[in-house]
Amino acid sequence: MTKPKILVARAVFPETLALLSEHFEVESNQDDVLWSKAELARRLADKQGAFTTGSERIDAELLAACPQLKICANMAVGYNNFDVDAMTARGVLATNAPDVLTETTADFGFALLMATARRMTESEHYLRRGEWTQWRYDLFAGTEVHGSTLGIIGMGRIGQGIARRGALGFGMKVIYHNRSRLSPDLEAQCQAQYVGKEELLRRADHVLLVVPYSAASHHTIGAPELALMKPTATLINIARGGIVDDAALAQALRERRIAAAGLDVFEGEPSVHPDLLTVPNVVLTPHIASATLSTRRAMAQLAADNLIGYLTQGQPVTPLNPAVLASA
Ligand code: DGY
Repeated sequence: MTKPKILVARAVFPETLALLSEHFEVESNQDDVLWSKAELARRLADKQGAFTTGSERIDAELLAACPQLKICANMAVGYNNFDVDAMTARGVLATNAPDVLTETTADFGFALLMATARRMTESEHYLRRGEWTQWRYDLFAGTEVHGSTLGIIGMGRIGQGIARRGALGFGMKVIYHNRSRLSPDLEAQCQAQYVGKEELLRRADHVLLVVPYSAASHHTIGAPELALMKPTATLINIARGGIVDDAALAQALRERRIAAAGLDVFEGEPSVHPDLLTVPNVVLTPHIASATLSTRRAMAQLAADNLIGYLTQGQPVTPLNPAVLASA
């Protein structure tokens, strides 16, 4: 029996490729070349499945060139690289990789908050430049974390993980804003209080963004929202580039209209707005919130399980558009 053909669009763990090769004829990209859209479409034209990572745009134009395609499995919980409606219209299943990265990503969100509030990278750079000559009473004095008010925008599983860390570990008062309010049970577990977005921005000492990217969440934080924040507040974005207007943020940081920011994601990444590279009061990391080896392995395993489950038995693990299953 011939095996279904799949494309693994980016470099992955060798064991993931080995597993996929047991079930599929695999074309891989272990050199991690970034293909153009046309090149991706050309390579996908005869494939039934795609293992994607969040950097490959799957839209109507690409799907029209890939008539055999049945599933795209993202090794990411975010899936704003998928036009899910176009995929559903073409009968192509979309899957993502939720849950397995929740706690790891929440750890990172909290680490970025701590590093930002306590000015860790800014002070490290100062030390490395050889500028540290004496102790001073206000040397790199930062913002308090314990006991402060944490405002979370986007209260999905990762947001809830950060809320628990803040409330239970650091005695923070947690307020949140979300499209829909959590159940009373979940609010109690997270010790979090629902508030409007404007109230959150005005009250929070630390504003943390974990909202999924969509047209509706584009520039959730821009100049008007930054103007509502306290001058002592920090802003942390571990969600997606485009949720924050990076140019407006760089200006607010330069003018010290907020104290500091911590960013793991950027508009147009891997490019970073040049002004963010020159302001001192920002901690910048290259989209690594879920990057521990065990979590990345679990994400790769889940993407592979989705491909294997769907293409060999019609049963994916985490479908995003189950309507495709009903009509298959
Ligand atoms: C995700 O899973 O969405 C992370 O941002 C990694 O890409």
